[in-house]
Amino acid sequence: MTPVLTETALDLPLLARGKVRDLYDLGDRLLIVATDRISAFDVVMLTGIPDKGLVLTQLSAFWFELTGDIVPNHFIAVVDSPRIDGVPAELPREMIGRAMIVQKARRIDVECVVRGYISGSGWKDYQEHGAVSGVRLLPGLEESQELPEPIFTPTTKAQSGHDLPMTFRNVVQMAGERAATAMKLRSLALYRYGRDYARERGIIIADTKFEFGWLDDEVILIDECLTPDSSRFWPADQYRPGGPQPSFDKQFLRDYLTDSGWNREPPAPELPPEIVEQTAEKYREAFRRLTGRELIRP
Ligand SMILES: Nc1ncnc2c1ncn2[C@@H]1O[C@H](COP(=O)(O)OP(=O)(O)O)[C@@H](O)[C@H]1O
Ligand SMILES: [Mg+2]
Repeated sequence: MTPVLTETALDLPLLARGKVRDLYDLGDRLLIVATDRISAFDVVMLTGIPDKGLVLTQLSAFWFELTGDIVPNHFIAVVDSPRIDGVPAELPREMIGRAMIVQKARRIDVECVVRGYISGSGWKDYQEHGAVSGVRLLPGLEESQELPEPIFTPTTKAQSGHDLPMTFRNVVQMAGERAATAMKLRSLALYRYGRDYARERGIIIADTKFEFGWLDDEVILIDECLTPDSSRFWPADQYRPGGPQPSFDKQFLRDYLTDSGWNREPPAPELPPEIVEQTAEKYREAFRRLTGRELIRP
């Protein structure tokens, strides 16, 4: 097992720290490091999940390579050695398999959510308004039901606080007609591809979120791709519409946190070793099932 990594301090200019990833500036490229941090109920846990960063980086890389001819993306390479062309510092070995070199893009601040099944905040909005992000749905759907067609239900990408639904018109106003149309069509195409691929491997991708950015004159996919962090993965053999579904990866963690009586305000409680290990195993399993590969380790 690879040691857990929840913080990085590389000898490179730090651009930003997200909830999970640390970003270093390489000029017109970025080094994106997926740490082992995990969040639940929008709070980052103090305890890391072993191998989670490896899974996120290598699963995203897998999809970027597989779908690059459908939708252009930022992916250049997964770090496979401490010395990488164009990286001015020698990297610690623990970056191998965990960090990725990508094209730096001008991010468009929209969370491009696609839903193939009605669940989560989509289910809530549907019950209240019969619509999600301005997309009207047939009456009488039950929770977790597969939709006749996947729908594009974007939200704002809030710097802090919760993301708010956007209609397609809102996206056009914010990002322009060309980018809005590209983001919608590309998100739907990627989701359909991933959904069919995962379904054959026993995983339902109920919904997912993509981010896009401008690179020169092109709208490209950035950030991560079809991972358990950016998507709802459900085990296909346990799928029972009519209520909420068990989550493939975070169910142990959510159940533990709910039973612990934690009020969902930071700080989160420390996680016991068996919850950490069960969660880690689910991330590894998702990776194995989807890619059929072994994780590259430092
Ligand atoms: N190619 C790219 N160019 C510019 N920004 C990017 C690129 N890829 C990812 N990002 C940004 O890097 C950050 C990744 O860190 P993450 O932990 O996922 O953040 P968050 O807490 O916003 O989810 C996100 O803010 C994402 O928008
Ligand atoms: Mg993110």
